[in-house]
Amino acid sequence: MDRIVITGGAPLNGVIPIYGAKNSALKLQAASLLSAEPLMLENMPDLADTRFMTQLLQSLGVEITWIKETRTLRMHAAEILSTIAPYDQVRKMRASFNVLGPLLARAGHATVSLPGGCAIGARPVDLHLKAFEAMGADIHIEQGYVKAAALRGLKGAAIEFPFVSVGATEHTMLAAVLAQGETVLKNAACEPEIADLADCLNAMGARVEGAGTAEIHIQGVTSLKGAKHAVVADRIEAGTYAMAAAAAGGNVLLAGARFEHLGAMIKFLREAGVQVDAEGRGLRVVRKRGQRLKAASFETAAFPGFPTDLQAQAMALMCLADGESRIKETIFENRFMHAPELTRLGAKIEVHGNEAVVTGVEKLAGAPVMATDLRASVSLVIAGLAAEGETIVNRVYHLDRGFEGLEAKLAACGAQIARQRGED
Ligand code: UD1
Repeated sequence: MDRIVITGGAPLNGVIPIYGAKNSALKLQAASLLSAEPLMLENMPDLADTRFMTQLLQSLGVEITWIKETRTLRMHAAEILSTIAPYDQVRKMRASFNVLGPLLARAGHATVSLPGGCAIGARPVDLHLKAFEAMGADIHIEQGYVKAAALRGLKGAAIEFPFVSVGATEHTMLAAVLAQGETVLKNAACEPEIADLADCLNAMGARVEGAGTAEIHIQGVTSLKGAKHAVVADRIEAGTYAMAAAAAGGNVLLAGARFEHLGAMIKFLREAGVQVDAEGRGLRVVRKRGQRLKAASFETAAFPGFPTDLQAQAMALMCLADGESRIKETIFENRFMHAPELTRLGAKIEVHGNEAVVTGVEKLAGAPVMATDLRASVSLVIAGLAAEGETIVNRVYHLDRGFEGLEAKLAACGAQIARQRGED
């Protein structure tokens, strides 16, 4: 297995390009199933997860070409050849489950494995299934598979989510665009990736209004056409490199990062004493060497709150801050697995249920650590960049799921970081 070796202490200076958002790209890829004409996605990230989605879609009959020079993915679902997403595929990547809605809407039926839990929590999909039922689908669970049918088509419905779910909001949109009549989603998630999905669907001829607010109106249409759409910049990738620059010190420009999508994180970084400003079409992050970080507390929340996907990275940063910070995780029940690993580097962290108390230390010291999930693993990289000596991050396949060219981007700014290729 590959591992990443970091010699900490080097500041980061330079420009880091921010690519399209993984969490948006995966749903946009699923949208290709909705039309018999090609969908072109520009600014695509090239990640283990997006490649994985490509393979799944190919198995369903979508013809896919990756045009590397322009970072464009061309997807053409002229015909749906299969409506089955097997366990092995959905188990490896939860977002595969998102093919259910589009298959149901276009083909009238689908059999998709239930995704099951994952390292950060149980992560049920009950809200997704209830929404499809409200739209008239017959849903049965058999041997771990969701068997869904709407042979005479889905019908628009009024759906109020009991709590905010990014996945359920997106998945319902993906089905409702081809339903008969109007679907109204209340208490919808407001994440920028949802507005991005709506923009793409509208470019394909859908009629979605209000995406990005808590109430979304969708007028169903009978078919969708081809379109070209640029994937929104990855706010989590941008936030991660902002934390890395803050931890290591230095001055970086995150080219393509969207200031307006990172409000809660920018507030947190400024409170910690880091300078963050919009600059052209990007974000400049500066922390002078020798300037100690200040403790800042936060709790994760749905957008526009502090993203749970940046919680681990922010915790890594707070390990070096002056004072005590309190971090509350409100979205996932088991998302502090990075805490014991950070402790191996000398951090002082106490976890009580869904709250962590971090008492900043003056220095971290490099050590071998183990990545447990995507965002946790990058928090260990951030800590390693700031620690004295050598940090070895094992199980880096988690990183490859969500960060394209991580070592290259950091090394180009002066980090001492390299990948060691493993045997298997
Ligand atoms: C998406 C993101 C993930 C991010 C999360 C929250 C993708 C591929 N993943 O995950 O990176 O951390 O949003 O911003 O886009 N829940 C239920 N029933 C459901 C659906 C969700 O109980 O049917 C619960 C979840 O277990 C979780 C909470 O609702 O506790 C929020 O989850 P949700 O917003 O749906 O996250 P995902 O879409 O899975």
